Amino acid sequence: MSTYKRLPISFKRGEGVWLQSKNGDKYLDALSGIAVNTLGYSHPKFVEVMAEQIKNLIHISNVYNIEEQCLLGKELANLSKLYSTFFCNSGCEANEAAIKIARLHGHALGIQNPEIIVMDNAFHGRTMATLSASGSRKVQAGFEPLMSGFLRVPFDNIEAIQEIANKKNKVSAILVEPVQGEGGINIPHNFEAYLKDLRNICDKNNWLLIFDEVQCGVGRTGKWFAHQHSSIKPDIVTLAKGLASGVPIGACIANEKASTLMSSGKHGSTFGGNPLAMIAGLTTIKIMKEDNLLDNAVSKGQLICSQLKKHFDQNDKIVSIRYMGLMIGIDLSHPCRGLVELALENKLLINVTSDKTIRLLPPLIINNDEAKLVAKKLVKTIDEFHKKA
Ligand SMILES: Cc1ncc(COP(=O)(O)O)c(C=O)c1O
Repeated sequence: MSTYKRLPISFKRGEGVWLQSKNGDKYLDALSGIAVNTLGYSHPKFVEVMAEQIKNLIHISNVYNIEEQCLLGKELANLSKLYSTFFCNSGCEANEAAIKIARLHGHALGIQNPEIIVMDNAFHGRTMATLSASGSRKVQAGFEPLMSGFLRVPFDNIEAIQEIANKKNKVSAILVEPVQGEGGINIPHNFEAYLKDLRNICDKNNWLLIFDEVQCGVGRTGKWFAHQHSSIKPDIVTLAKGLASGVPIGACIANEKASTLMSSGKHGSTFGGNPLAMIAGLTTIKIMKEDNLLDNAVSKGQLICSQLKKHFDQNDKIVSIRYMGLMIGIDLSHPCRGLVELALENKLLINVTSDKTIRLLPPLIINNDEAKLVAKKLVKTIDEFHKKA
């Protein structure tokens, strides 16, 4: 089906941060399949382990014990300091699991039709529940009736949530991306304070705090989880995208209180937690540790943005350059239609979100020279774009 507006190019192989097109041209990838290819392409250690796993076992049903699932569950519990994980195959499914837990929690509190507080400009996926939770009319239009049970407030605005809490309400959870991705790389103006306030409000009202870290998790911002730039913990955090370096995976990680609401038979997934995806997740995390990729995300994010800031210092067409690790947003003063195609001509893969925000999400393995080259190619592209306009 024509669900995607595709660029006129296809690729035959990749190595490191580079992709080779069918006609042999090399492209510098500053998008990673939209935050998926954590280890870039054809990472030798990753490929070796995956090839071995494919020889041994790809899929086995969840009616049996899956040792690899226990191992990745333990690793995620260890990294998040939470309790257990439900595994699925994508970000929207991970959020579906979180939404189901929030509803179970509401019912356990005696609320008949529990509601979840969600944010303007949020993106949580394309299933009926997650598109209803998302804060974009573009995502929702045509799919009415939307699912009920979501209360929307502005992002990074604790007063709006407090107002709901002050009234008689049916809320059982807050669902929020600590850093909004599709919404335009929006970072709360005081990250620590905002997350702490969210935690406090949830504690006071017995609501679950759910972080959607499908885009900002797995080391992208320089910590395993973006919320770990603060001192608080959520009740639930969802991951997908970069967790298995390109193999489909989703994870809904919860503390003990939230985990135990999901009893046997309440949820499931045929493919979720299969040995191949689990080994891909375990190996991604192992290589991230061995190769210090969290630190690399911090230093290369700084490098790219300092180069961009240096060049665009006095340029009033660049409204802001925001970043957390290798999650980078550059706001132009006007819509940037055509800019992605221009970047493609310069052999650079980028993306534009929310009309005016250039989004960079390079693989976490990017080195100094490649980071400088991303900045250089982007500067050239933006300058050409403004000359053409
Ligand atoms: C924050 C966030 N949540 C959920 C999703 C949905 O993930 P998926 O496309 O794997 O269903 C995305 C995808 O872009 C996302 O960025």
